[in-house]
Amino acid sequence: MKISTTSSVLALAAASTGSAQTTTYTNQSAPFTLQIANSANASLNGLYLFSCHAGAAIEGICVGGSTPISGASSTFYYNTTDTDVSGSDDGQGLLVWNLPVSGLPGTDHVSQSAALQPYRPGTNVVVPLFGFDAGTPVHFDDDKLTIKDYYNDANYVAGQFPDSTPAETVYNNWYSCWTGVGGGYTYEALSWVTAGVPHNPTCEKIDVIRTFL
Ligand SMILES: *[C@@H]1O[C@H](CO)[C@@H](O)[C@H](O)[C@H]1NC(C)=O
Ligand SMILES: *[C@@H]1O[C@H](CO)[C@@H](O)[C@H](O)[C@H]1NC(C)=O
Ligand SMILES: *[C@@H]1O[C@H](CO)[C@@H](O)[C@H](O)[C@H]1NC(C)=O
Repeated sequence: MKISTTSSVLALAAASTGSAQTTTYTNQSAPFTLQIANSANASLNGLYLFSCHAGAAIEGICVGGSTPISGASSTFYYNTTDTDVSGSDDGQGLLVWNLPVSGLPGTDHVSQSAALQPYRPGTNVVVPLFGFDAGTPVHFDDDKLTIKDYYNDANYVAGQFPDSTPAETVYNNWYSCWTGVGGGYTYEALSWVTAGVPHNPTCEKIDVIRTFL
């Protein structure tokens, strides 16, 4: 009885988000570092990104120095799916890091994926946060971090339905911004501008490049 109640709740939850299937991302890449490149502000180029505390078991991705911090905080992974729901590799995966933990049996870390959040009415700047929410799928164009999506309203016409098979757009909206990260922290952090010009005047356009260790 308990089990069937739980599964109907899960079925309802799946129906309400419009996705009956969940993708799992368990094919993990080799470890890599992430560095800033191609910024108009040359002093940002080459700086390493690292996971920075932003709440209980929540981390943002902060702008660090010209050498990587040793250990977990400058080490990232790309988890792709090996059981893709559509049956083909869609070229997306999750940006992952290993949160070091102690006291858990049989492991010294918890794998966390980055999700872009939060929605705030006062800005178009969001940040990747490592935590326990479902991650935001990302893409590596060669070694450059991007995000692919099919939704692009830039050319919509009033009264007309958009193309039912829209072209895929590869977005590269990464910035370095002094911004709110997680629960009440403000850092110089990797940020994503959802569209247009950053609302936050401290944001500087950057590319994010991975280098396998
Ligand atoms: C990433 O893949 C590894 C290896 O399969 C797995 O242990 C880990 O849980 C995955 N992480 C996420 C966030 O899915
Ligand atoms: C360039 O970036 C550095 C590092 O964040 C910052 O201290 C400096 O103010 C920036 N310079 C300009 C002109 O924005
Ligand atoms: C896992 O990812 C690697 C690249 O990181 C790829 O070569 C391999 O084919 C993938 N395995 C599966 C089962 O998809």
